[in-house]
Amino acid sequence: MEVYNKKEEITAAIAALRQINSNLGMVPTMGALHEGHLQLVKRALKENDKVVVSIFVNPTQFNNNDDLEKYPRTLNADVSLLKTLSESDILVYAPTVEDIYEGNTVSESFDFDGLELEMEGKFRHGHFDGVGTIVKRFFEIIAPDRAYFGEKDFQQLAIIKKLVEKHSIPVKIVGCAIYREANGLAMSSRNTRLKPKYKDAAPFIYKTLKSAQAHFGTKSATLVTQWVTKAFAEHNLLKLEYFIIADAETLKPVYRKSDKKKYRAFIAVYADDIRLIDNIALN
Ligand code: PAJ
Repeated sequence: MEVYNKKEEITAAIAALRQINSNLGMVPTMGALHEGHLQLVKRALKENDKVVVSIFVNPTQFNNNDDLEKYPRTLNADVSLLKTLSESDILVYAPTVEDIYEGNTVSESFDFDGLELEMEGKFRHGHFDGVGTIVKRFFEIIAPDRAYFGEKDFQQLAIIKKLVEKHSIPVKIVGCAIYREANGLAMSSRNTRLKPKYKDAAPFIYKTLKSAQAHFGTKSATLVTQWVTKAFAEHNLLKLEYFIIADAETLKPVYRKSDKKKYRAFIAVYADDIRLIDNIALN
């Protein structure tokens, strides 16, 4: 399995593969790979001849320098994990900031038809401009046929679909279900930074989402939101940043339910100084 640090090298390797008509999947990641990432890579390997996995901690999508600095970087372990899936069909692209940004780390400014203004967009200013900038850049360099993103970051997935549609990028975006620990905690690279007592507390997030899902059958979105807010107010370790029930398509908060629409609950919680997000389909 080759690890490429330079775009000229990976584009040459891809050009050679295209000569023999291989089709190409891509899984963009920031590394510190866990089983959730691997599920995406496994699916991509099933549906494509070759798969590019990018490993790059993208500075432009971090609105908090401390979070950027503390983000785990474990390239060797990541490569070993990928090798367990395939020695021959995965290409790793692990560029430097200089290689990918060429000295210009200012994000492009995007209009994602308002998707970028909700939830994560409100609490992490500039985040989705950074995500849009890097993913668009990856699609230009790699030009995959299919790219795989997790529902763990449901808003990001919706935004990438919008990016591709608005910029007419010829790639199929494939959404993959959230992969969880046995205790329900959504897998995340940030989980490795949780101190033991917070790691023990964190499954409360999914437990609460499941209860919210059950309540949503009979209660209004406002009542469910109040119930969740109270449950977190009474929790002594986890601090709720937001809980929002939204239209799964527009991501706008919902106040009155309609049978014709799909709804989802979205949550962001601080466990100590670690920010965790999760979401669940409600109907
Ligand atoms: P990262 O957080 O490393 O996630 C890479 C991909 O793995 C994303 O599509 C994310 O939704 C998916 N993923 C992470 N945990 C998952 C889980 N438990 N179950 C299912 N999928 C999961 O998201 C990013 O990186 C970056 O924003 C990126 C798109 C790479 C741009 O920099």
